[in-house]
Amino acid sequence: MDSIELYRKVLLSVSGNRLVEHLALRYGRKLAAKFIAGSSLEEALDEIERLNGNGIMVTLDHLGEGIKQIAEAASYREEYVRLINGIARRKVNSNVSLKPTQMGLALDPEACYSNIRDIVAEAKQHNNFVRIDMEDSPYTQATIDIVLRLHGEGLTNVGTVIQAYLLRSREDVKQLIEAGVNLRLVKGAYKEPASVAYQQMSEVIDNFKALIQMHLDHGVYTAIASHDDRIINWVKEYAYKKGIKADAFEFQMLYGLRMNDQAQLAREGYRIRCYMPYGSMWYPYYTRRLAEKPANLWMVVKNMFK
Ligand code: FDA
Repeated sequence: MDSIELYRKVLLSVSGNRLVEHLALRYGRKLAAKFIAGSSLEEALDEIERLNGNGIMVTLDHLGEGIKQIAEAASYREEYVRLINGIARRKVNSNVSLKPTQMGLALDPEACYSNIRDIVAEAKQHNNFVRIDMEDSPYTQATIDIVLRLHGEGLTNVGTVIQAYLLRSREDVKQLIEAGVNLRLVKGAYKEPASVAYQQMSEVIDNFKALIQMHLDHGVYTAIASHDDRIINWVKEYAYKKGIKADAFEFQMLYGLRMNDQAQLAREGYRIRCYMPYGSMWYPYYTRRLAEKPANLWMVVKNMFK
């Protein structure tokens, strides 16, 4: 295990730790501000407008996950309906991303389905698209089932995410490509055991490339979400070698990371979409970002003293 992998494992292990949470909450939102576009929808819409001006598309996420009571899901559903309407009203280039446990997946899968269905139906009215983020492995199959069920009902403006660290992902991608589901491919952000996930970064990267290749070779539009130059440069070279046009895929990166490089990709003629979270439930999202890269932690430490 190299030092980065060790760092990631340690941070993901302590992210549920009360001391870490206490420190993060004590220093407050200011620390997380770098990764979060604001606490209100209007602030986020202003920021989308600014990024669109640099050629960067957006996927907007209202922060929230792992709700404790199913009634909470209804207010998240309503917020998503509001934000889909806000995007249409402001005519900005953005779709939306949501988390299934925010909509109640862990508490009441049928209510979760119904909440997500309402959001996807609303998005369809506005010709917009909903991405269901992928959470940890207990929810993988249920998330895929929701997406396939919605497609079965004719709501095809919804896709999900496949994580390259999961051993099952090649089979999932095969099935989802056949069903015509638009996918975002990522490495995977959660702590997963060896029984379900590759533990070495080199294996994750190899699998990531294999999954991207499956899409590009089949001519299926895909979103490649990574800040890793080993992936980005590989995609650029592969597309060039195979004569795949730049509009056959999109890159995605997180808000607050490599923003200049996101604009540069747009200038080079690539499609690039920024994942932009807003809202007050920032803590779990933020600890996953810290776990991904020591420099992110350093950035936070510097911000503490600004
Ligand atoms: P990683 O963090 O592994 O870094 C690898 C290398 O990339 C670094 O060593 C460095 O060289 C370079 N690099 C990284 N950050 C850099 C920076 N800021 N500046 C310069 N170089 C940098 N996960 C999940 O489980 N479910 C989901 O639904 C999603 N959704 C999602 C959407 C989007 C748009 C993104 C970008 C990511 C996700 N993820 C996710 C998270 C994903 O699984 C993964 O944890 C992170 O993207 C981190 O992996 P990377 O491939 O980005 O590089």
